[in-house]
This record gives sequence, C-alpha cells and structure tokens, in this order.
Amino acid sequence: MQKVLVVYESMFGNTHDVAEAVATGLRSSVDVTLVDVGDAPLEIPDEIDLVVVGGPTHAFGMSRPSTRQSAVEQGADPQAAEHIGLREWIAGVVTHEGLPTAAFDTKVAKPHLPGSAAKAAERKLRHRGFKKLADPESFLVAGTTGNLLDGELERARAWGESLAVA
Ligand SMILES: Cc1cc2nc3c(=O)[nH]c(=O)nc-3n(C[C@H](O)[C@H](O)[C@H](O)COP(=O)(O)O)c2cc1C
Repeated sequence: MQKVLVVYESMFGNTHDVAEAVATGLRSSVDVTLVDVGDAPLEIPDEIDLVVVGGPTHAFGMSRPSTRQSAVEQGADPQAAEHIGLREWIAGVVTHEGLPTAAFDTKVAKPHLPGSAAKAAERKLRHRGFKKLADPESFLVAGTTGNLLDGELERARAWGESLAVA
C-alpha cells in the first residue's frame, strides 16, 4: 500500500481538523501518517510516496514566529508557537528529487484577502525538489479563531480522496 505523510501546522485547531479530514479521505486507499509540524521528520523516509502539508494563512502567506506569537496573543495554544512552523520545516526538509506533494491551508472567508499559505508552501516545496501532484487548496474559517465554515470538513475529506486516486 502506498504511504502518505501529512504534516500540519495549527494555532487554533482549525487546520488540525482539516488535516484529520484530509487524512480520513486519503485512508480510503493509502496508508497515512498524520503529524504536527513540530514533530515532523526533517528527512522524508524512503517509503513515503506523497507528502501533504497544511497550515494557516498568516499575513498573506505561511506563518512566521511573529505571526504565531500574535495568534497566541489572540488566544491560540502557546505550545503551538514553541516549535517551528511549516515555513521553517519546508526550508529544512530533505527529500529525494521529484517526490509528489500537495498543499492546503485555512484562511478567513470574509474579508477575502489575497495570499495563501498553501500556494506559498507549494512553491517553496518545488524549490526543495518536490513535484506538485495537485493544485493548492484553501479551506475557509469564519474568523481568525474559527470556526470552519459548514461543509469544509466534507470538502477536505473529498480532497484527500482525490489525492489518493491521483
Ligand atoms: C497573525 C495572523 C495573521 C493572519 N493573516 C491572515 C491572512 O492574511 N489571510 C487570511 O485569510 N487569514 C489570516 N489569518 C487568519 C488565519 O488564517 C486563521 O487564524 C487560521 O486559518 C486558523 O487556523 P488554525 O486554527 O489552524 O490556526 C491570520 C491570523 C493570524 C493569527
């Protein structure tokens, strides 16, 4: 069975919930390891066939230490700001050339803001030697702390299923 590594970052828990739904969709046909970015391996194990990453959109892109701190000031779990985020993980990750990848993010529904952590992550992952399997996907929250809009977890599960097929 093919093996997929799902790496997520989440400050308020919404991206974590989306990551779980994506993993559920993937599990329809592949073996999935779901891991918080703070515990993610910096060297992708040889047996991994696909890496899926997801994180919250902060300041039009991936989070930084300063935006994670700002999230904590707005009520996020302080532990989530004590380790690296997706940006730093991608900058340090080592893989074999051409490993397929797909990226998702969460972002606020209103106001609609430009920029997406998933697009930024996907671009950086390609620079690190990964190959894009699917277009970046965004899942919407009602506000900074959440909640996810109705139907987004179902959409995330379906997106995971589509990745497994791809
Ligand atoms: C410092 C900060 C900056 C943010 N910037 C953006 C942004 O540029 N665009 C956007 O759509 N959402 C932005 N948001 C909202 C986040 O996308 C939202 O908090 C996130 O999707 C929630 O996911 P989480 O529960 O996994 O942390 C920002 C949130 C914080 C805390």
